[in-house]
Amino acid sequence: MKIVIIGGSGHIGTYLAPRLARAGHEVSVVSRGLRSPYSPDPAWETMQFVTLDRKAEEASGSFGAKVRDLQADAVVDLTCFTPESARQLVEALRGTLRLFVHCGTIWTHGYSTVVPTKEETPRKPICEYGRRKLAIEQLLLEESAEGRLPAVVLHPGHIVGKGWNPLNPAGHFHPRVFSQLARGEEVFLPNLGMETVHHVHADDVAQCFESAIRRPRQAAGESFHVVSERALTLRGYAEAMAEWFGQPARLRFLPWSEWKATVSEGEAAYTWDHIAHSPNCSISKAQAGLNYSPRYSSLEAVQEAVQDLIARRVIEV
Ligand SMILES: NC(=O)c1ccc[n+]([C@@H]2O[C@H](COP(=O)([O-])OP(=O)(O)OC[C@H]3O[C@@H](n4cnc5c(N)ncnc54)[C@H](OP(=O)(O)O)[C@@H]3O)[C@@H](O)[C@H]2O)c1
Repeated sequence: MKIVIIGGSGHIGTYLAPRLARAGHEVSVVSRGLRSPYSPDPAWETMQFVTLDRKAEEASGSFGAKVRDLQADAVVDLTCFTPESARQLVEALRGTLRLFVHCGTIWTHGYSTVVPTKEETPRKPICEYGRRKLAIEQLLLEESAEGRLPAVVLHPGHIVGKGWNPLNPAGHFHPRVFSQLARGEEVFLPNLGMETVHHVHADDVAQCFESAIRRPRQAAGESFHVVSERALTLRGYAEAMAEWFGQPARLRFLPWSEWKATVSEGEAAYTWDHIAHSPNCSISKAQAGLNYSPRYSSLEAVQEAVQDLIARRVIEV
């Protein structure tokens, strides 16, 4: 197939674009050309790079037509954050594709209730990002149901890979938490450390996207969670990482109001966002419908990324 990946040089694209090219697809990556993929791969040399600034093209109403002109069989959209943005693209692509793949987020569910959360659990997003992504999902599934554009929505958890900081056991992204655990230092966690996070390796996200593209008829009109097999509590995550570093876990638990004073405002905001959602999602639908089989557990994904950050001296052991 000819596949266009909008935003194909970031976390997901670094793994997805080479995977699709190696599978024999003709891949075009649309981006502003400002950043490079996180890892080199000879497969990048076989791809076409199309420089477009989505924001600027949308403002002039030309983004949809420019993507349509690439004459793809499938379009993977990794950079859509508003229903207006989705609508412009969808209207241009109607009747031209075998599959439109939108990257959603498990944040569309809002806070967890009965876990693991299934796709059919009523979605009650609690943040603007989640509300917009839900509106995009509804728009796309309606397009698909009415036969105008076959579309699937894939919802990743916290994406982990080599080259960037994984979400840490305190629920934010600063790598010092891993350094503290590696040195056997005391780490503060909010509340009882029982709130959850749900990671996924970027290559497992890529595997699921590739599987959906391979099965356009099964995928169209559906949405699927794309996470590791099981979520982690912050406490379990911190203990397992300390053990991996060969150290005892020295954890101290503080009520939220006290804990947030121990970190920067930005870190507190990230942690609050993660513990307020406390995601724990089921992958049974993707396993059954897309043959999704994640290679990495949450811990394996994080440990691979941490190993890479140790080698680059971002994390000090
Ligand atoms: N990261 C996570 O943990 C996570 C979790 C759940 C869901 N998601 C979803 O994943 C998607 C993002 O994927 P990602 O994390 O792989 O993205 P990313 O790492 O942020 O990469 C963004 C990509 O889009 C391109 N881009 C950014 N602005 C652009 C513009 N105005 N016009 C054209 N291209 C543009 C970037 O290249 P240039 O800068 O060169 O243009 C890059 O290729 C989003 O839909 C998000 O909701 C992410």
